[in-house]
Amino acid sequence: MKKYLLQVEGLTIRYNTGGRQNTEAISDVGFTLTRGETLGLVGESGCGKSTLARAIMQLPGPASGRILFTGEDLTQVSKKRLKRLRPRFQMIFQDSISSLNPRRKIIDILTAPLDAIGKMSREEKKRRALEMMVSVGIDPGTCHLRPFQFSGGQCQRIQIARALMPEPELLICDEPVSSLDVSVQAQIINLLEALRKSHGLTMLFISHDLAVVKNVCDRVAVMYLGKLCEEAPSEKLYKTHHHPYTRALLSAIPNPDPGLLPSRVKIRAGETPSPVDPPSGCRFRTRCPRAEKHCAQKEPEFHEIEPGHRVACHFPIL
Ligand SMILES: Nc1ncnc2c1ncn2[C@@H]1O[C@H](COP(=O)(O)OP(=O)(O)OP(=O)(O)O)[C@@H](O)[C@H]1O
Ligand SMILES: [Mg+2]
Repeated sequence: MKKYLLQVEGLTIRYNTGGRQNTEAISDVGFTLTRGETLGLVGESGCGKSTLARAIMQLPGPASGRILFTGEDLTQVSKKRLKRLRPRFQMIFQDSISSLNPRRKIIDILTAPLDAIGKMSREEKKRRALEMMVSVGIDPGTCHLRPFQFSGGQCQRIQIARALMPEPELLICDEPVSSLDVSVQAQIINLLEALRKSHGLTMLFISHDLAVVKNVCDRVAVMYLGKLCEEAPSEKLYKTHHHPYTRALLSAIPNPDPGLLPSRVKIRAGETPSPVDPPSGCRFRTRCPRAEKHCAQKEPEFHEIEPGHRVACHFPIL
């Protein structure tokens, strides 16, 4: 049997959205991550990417489902055990500036994650923090400044440094570059790629941009309205995808590589439905150009169409 670093099974996450109403933001999602692998998670705004990431981090945990980290279910372990495990899985949050405490100096932000790990002298923590600043390209001489004294790109580097301080095995990157200028985006992606190699990281890389994910990830999972609709090795997904939503996302990439991409696909007009009241059957059917009556009646299973390639569609593009 394969040894997975992370196994997510049947994950469901609800938000209480007033009164008796519950929004199922994530519905029965499952995937695996093998050690050393990078999985991309893509989907449009509001589909539940950050919700999923926070649930894996147990911030807070899911309503139901299992999250196995090296075989231990994070949703079931004791608080004490979770605290011990936490340094091993870290996250870079979507909003880099607001995720850093504005009142704290960079040096304190960077040494804080080490407090949870056994005994280490103040000097040793500081030495490691300064070293980490160098490896993410921030001048260690600025370690006594506070987050607001840095640019967005620099704050993202600091966030990356903070996440790497406890030497995690798993790094979840939630839209690590979407708030940055295009030129800075490339720098941060290159930095993440270099750190991934040097630290032997396993990554879940979240983005709404398939073009970014393509260059970084081994496999890609596509999410629509809280459910996975397709998952495949990166190369495969870009060449021979089967879900109409994947095709629509791909055809929205500007300046595509003409050899790789399909002809433009139009998603049917109208609002993206709300997860408060998702469409019956297939959730994508209200916007799907291929939808038929059956799609409203029965939810498609997320099944393997060929080894390593899963799709949830009654009428996949073949
Ligand atoms: N704290 C909350 N309370 C209630 N509903 C929430 C909360 N956070 C998110 N949601 C809802 O859950 C759904 C998923 O939101 P989420 O932020 O996970 O999406 P996302 O894919 O990360 O979007 P984006 O690409 O914009 O970051 C949305 O419908 C959102 O409105
Ligand atoms: Mg998000």
